[in-house]
Amino acid sequence: MSAKAIDIFCGAGGLTFGLQKAGIPVVLGVDLDPACEYPYTSNTGAKFLSEDVAKVSKDTLLKKYGNSKYKILVGCAPCQPFSTYTQGLKIRDSRWSLLRAFSELAIQLAPDVISMENVTQLARHRVYKDFLKDLKKAGYHVSESKVRCVQYGVPQTRKRLVVLASKHGPIDLIKPTHSADDKRLTVRHAIRNLEHVRAGWQSKKDKLHCAAGLAAKNFKRLCASNPGGTWKDWKLQLRADCHRKKSGAHYGGVYGRMEWDRPAPTITTQCYGFGSGRFGHPEQNRALTLREAAILQTFPRSYKFIPPREEASFRGVGRLIGNAVPVKLGRAIGKTILAHLSEVQARG
Ligand SMILES: C[S@@+](CC[C@H](N)C(=O)[O-])C[C@H]1O[C@@H](n2cnc3c(N)ncnc32)[C@H](O)[C@@H]1O
Repeated sequence: MSAKAIDIFCGAGGLTFGLQKAGIPVVLGVDLDPACEYPYTSNTGAKFLSEDVAKVSKDTLLKKYGNSKYKILVGCAPCQPFSTYTQGLKIRDSRWSLLRAFSELAIQLAPDVISMENVTQLARHRVYKDFLKDLKKAGYHVSESKVRCVQYGVPQTRKRLVVLASKHGPIDLIKPTHSADDKRLTVRHAIRNLEHVRAGWQSKKDKLHCAAGLAAKNFKRLCASNPGGTWKDWKLQLRADCHRKKSGAHYGGVYGRMEWDRPAPTITTQCYGFGSGRFGHPEQNRALTLREAAILQTFPRSYKFIPPREEASFRGVGRLIGNAVPVKLGRAIGKTILAHLSEVQARG
C-alpha cells in the first residue's frame, strides 16, 4: 500500500520505530532538540528536521509525502505540562500551545490519518478538548483510548492516551495484544540477563548500561529497601526530613525498588535516579541503568542513543528514553492505521 508517515515531536524515535515495525514507512521526523537527530536517524533511517513544529512550513512537509496515496501524521507533543507532577501548578508554559500547533498543522496538511499520544491527564484540559473539536470540525472521525501499555506488550504500569483520527471513517486502536498478567511482561523477563553493574559503574560492552552513583546515605537507604516496599521500611534515621512529617507520608512512590515479577513503574525522564521514583534494581544496590530503562520502554537492546565517541549523560539520555512512546505501543498504533487503510482501500 502506498502510505507514508511524518512524525512531529519525534524525539529519539520510539513512535517512528514502532510504526516501522508495523510496516509503515516513515519519511520524516521533526523535533526542536538537535540531540534527537543521532538516535532518530541512525536507528530508523528516516530523515530528521530540527525545527519548531509551530513554525515548520506545510509545503516542506507536503513534499516529503511525495505522491503517496495515503498521508499519515503522528506525534506526541511534550507531556510535561500535562503530567501529574505539574498539573497542580499554575505554570504559564508555552508548551501548552503545542497541541494547538499540532492541530493547525494537521488541518493544513489534511492527512488521511492522524494519531496523537500523550499522558492520560491531558484529557481533562481545555486545550485537548479544543484539539478534538478542531479535528472533528475538519471532517475527521475521531477516537480516544486510555491505554494500559502493558496490554500492548510493554512491561510497565504506564497509562497513555491515544487519539486516532481518519478522514475515511471510524478508526479505533486495535484490541489489546497481551493479557495484563502475562508472565513475560515483568521486570525479570525484560532485564534479567543484563550484566551486573554497581552504582556509579559502566559496562565495558555497552556504555548505556551504566548506573548513576549513589551518595553514602542513599546507598544505605537502597540496601534497606525491599522490592515493592517504600521508604517506610527504613529505620527512622535513614528517612528524609519531609518523610518524617505527616504531610510527606503519602509519597510512597519514590525511593523504592522494583519487583522482579511485576511490570516496572512508568519509566520517566529521571528513570536513572533512585530518589525519583521506584527505580531501584530488584536486587542489585543501584538504580536502573539507561539501557535497562530503554529496554523497559521496549526499545531493542541495540538501540543507539548517542554517537560512538560521546559519553552518556544521564540527564540527556534519560530525557530521550523517558519521553519516548514505547516502541510496542507505537507498533499497535501502526497496526491500527494499516488495518484501517487496508479496509479503506478495499472499499475503493
Ligand atoms: C514526548 S517527546 C516525543 C517522543 C517521541 N515521540 C518518541 O517516541 O521518542 C516530545 C518531543 O517534543 C520536542 N519538542 C518540544 N517542543 C517542540 C517544538 N516546539 N517543536 C518541535 N519539537 C518540540 C521535544 O524535544 C521532545 O523530543
